[in-house]
Amino acid sequence: MTASSAPPPATRYPPGAQAFPHRDLLGIGHLQRHEILFLLDEAEQWIALNRKSAKHAETLAGLTIINAFFENSTRTLLSFEIAGKRLGADVVNMHAATSSVKKGETLIDTAITLNAMRADAIVIRHGSSGATALIASKVDCPVLNAGDGQHEHPTQALLDALALRHALRERGETADDFTGLKVVICGDILHSRVARSNLLCLQALGATVRLCAPPALMPSGIAEMGAEVHYDFDKALAGADVVMMLRLQAERMSGQFIPSEREYHHLYGLTRKRLAAAANDALVMHPGPMNRGVEIDSDVADMLDRSIITRQVEMGVALRMTCLDVLTRRRRGIAGWGDGA
Ligand code: NCD
Repeated sequence: MTASSAPPPATRYPPGAQAFPHRDLLGIGHLQRHEILFLLDEAEQWIALNRKSAKHAETLAGLTIINAFFENSTRTLLSFEIAGKRLGADVVNMHAATSSVKKGETLIDTAITLNAMRADAIVIRHGSSGATALIASKVDCPVLNAGDGQHEHPTQALLDALALRHALRERGETADDFTGLKVVICGDILHSRVARSNLLCLQALGATVRLCAPPALMPSGIAEMGAEVHYDFDKALAGADVVMMLRLQAERMSGQFIPSEREYHHLYGLTRKRLAAAANDALVMHPGPMNRGVEIDSDVADMLDRSIITRQVEMGVALRMTCLDVLTRRRRGIAGWGDGA
């Protein structure tokens, strides 16, 4: 496995708010490489805090964070909730299933309502691509995209990069970025915001990304984003350093995209035998939720020395603490970050 061993340059990112000049986190597509590295570096302090028995900071004391989830979620919602609470904020969860959305309220009216409650940050998951950007245009506090349709899931890609960097460092590779790393992302690429955000993030950090899916689940034109496109999983795996598996997102499929789950597993499921084609120490990732026996076998998902799936979940909390901290610095009047407006 290769990863850049160059020490971080002194001018890694500019000072203060110039290191991350955005009000919102809507997608990796808006970020530059140094902004991504800034967030990953900032997350280190929260990883350390989260590993202590008393995991509390007062960084966001007095702030109100609203998690507005219009789609199902387990780990992303919990992770944002834990992140806000560990930083001392008041965290409120709005579940669309029991909200006025079910009474016909428009997304814009919901956004205006949340804004009137003077939230200091709004975290949104929504089934429509672009919904989080629409809400961001209607409110005056930072908006964090926790997954919008098939578009982007930026905090997932950032936490994946953080988990990967940690795993590489633990192996003694002074991985700073992912130059030279070969990453395979296999599964339902067509419907996956995780795939899109990861492609952008991994490429920004120097990795080569191979996307693999049945032809029906590969978006057309994706090669123009610089990815290698594969339909044969065994070929895609050859010599890979990292294998990221994705779920079949049946809830987004209109019609039959695969003959059967059995057939899909046969061609695209990650088995121990198949993993042997990758590098000897290739790491295995999955954003969850996993469908064991479909896209990934249990004995691969649970490999202690290779699978970093639970570490991804751990890093998710630290990374989301980072995003909440960084995006609220201006309104908290942190020196070098603005005037508290
Ligand atoms: C992903 C999502 O919601 O996009 N899950 C997650 O956030 N961890 C992937 C998925 O649902 O398959």
